[in-house]
Amino acid sequence: MLRRQPSKGRLVSALSGLVVDPPPIWLMRQAGRYLPEYREVRAKAGSFLDLCLNPKLSAEVTLQPLRRFDLDAAIVFSDILMVPYALGQKVEFVEGEGPKLEPVPSGKELAKLDRLKAEARFAPVYETLSRVIPELPSGVPVIGFCGAPWTVATYMVEGAGSKDQAQARLWAYRDPDSFQSLIDLLVETSIAYLLGQVKAGAGVLQIFDSWAGSLPNDEFARWCSYPTRALVAGVKAVYPDVPVISFPRGCGASAERYAQETKIDAIGCDTSMSLAYMCEILQSRLTVQGNLDPLLIVAGGIHLERRVKAILDLLSSGPFVFNLGHGILPDTPPDHVAKLVALVKGKA
Ligand code: CP3
Repeated sequence: MLRRQPSKGRLVSALSGLVVDPPPIWLMRQAGRYLPEYREVRAKAGSFLDLCLNPKLSAEVTLQPLRRFDLDAAIVFSDILMVPYALGQKVEFVEGEGPKLEPVPSGKELAKLDRLKAEARFAPVYETLSRVIPELPSGVPVIGFCGAPWTVATYMVEGAGSKDQAQARLWAYRDPDSFQSLIDLLVETSIAYLLGQVKAGAGVLQIFDSWAGSLPNDEFARWCSYPTRALVAGVKAVYPDVPVISFPRGCGASAERYAQETKIDAIGCDTSMSLAYMCEILQSRLTVQGNLDPLLIVAGGIHLERRVKAILDLLSSGPFVFNLGHGILPDTPPDHVAKLVALVKGKA
């Protein structure tokens, strides 16, 4: 289906600290509603969760962006809320509203969560990976992923996305011991989930901590850095060579300490992170990934070109993976994505 690459591949090389020219590129949420072929499959799958649990259709939508664009990785099509689903929490995705879960608002409800059935519930995601891998050329890995314990906990506690994650923060302030039990359960379940994804063929892992920015500094260490460190250690104990990227969105100047404490191989930087900080502070320690504003691909044209050039000028002489500062938006024209990939690959 696609071009051949040397076996280690461009993304894994960059994640191991090498400078790859031109830098590898993949995009957060590269499969999804901005692609008409995704919307077609989505319409036939039923609900979003039905799609995630259907390995044949999930494999198809995982591959769709790679058929169109010269990307250096696929990311398995699933969702971070697969973990609460696997723990027996009721999870739904309401059209136009986002995720809705039956809330777990305090320690009293923890007993309802059940880890024993989780592996069986993860099985369709593992099957999606097994179906995708033979379709990719060597050197183009499939990225497995999960949400970081803190971010997943915010959805479990609130029962939906929220603007300030107040319910989860309140629980953590009022009763840190029982909140720690929820975090520990998520660490343990997510380690098993990531190990299962590697066993099924994922060659790279990414941890999404989309709400890392909502915690004050010392709480950030306790609920973001330490659980992620435990997650990374649990994976590396079994698969020391599988690179792990983490994306602690909104963590600001805590990024340097976070990278040190968690022992990740690469840090995903959000749109607000300055290129100077990424270059001078982070890139001397580890591979950086990021951080184009997804709105600039909607805008396209000269604004997109200028920013891509600025990012490449500052970051491409060190270990770097080109990506967005957050997920691709549904109203992104696919032509603009093609243009972006060509710009990064020096083919525009
Ligand atoms: O292509 C890929 O990147 C792989 C698939 C993927 C999805 N979600 C598919 C999806 C990945 C990696 C995610 C991660 C995810 N899911 C995050 C972390 C990244 C981020 O965006 O901050 C979060 C917070 C979620 C939870 C989630 N899932 C929300 C808040 C929503 C609703 C918002 C929205 O975009 O609709 C989802 C639904 C979702 N996950 C969709 C897709 C393609 C849209 C559902 C649809 O097709 O109807």
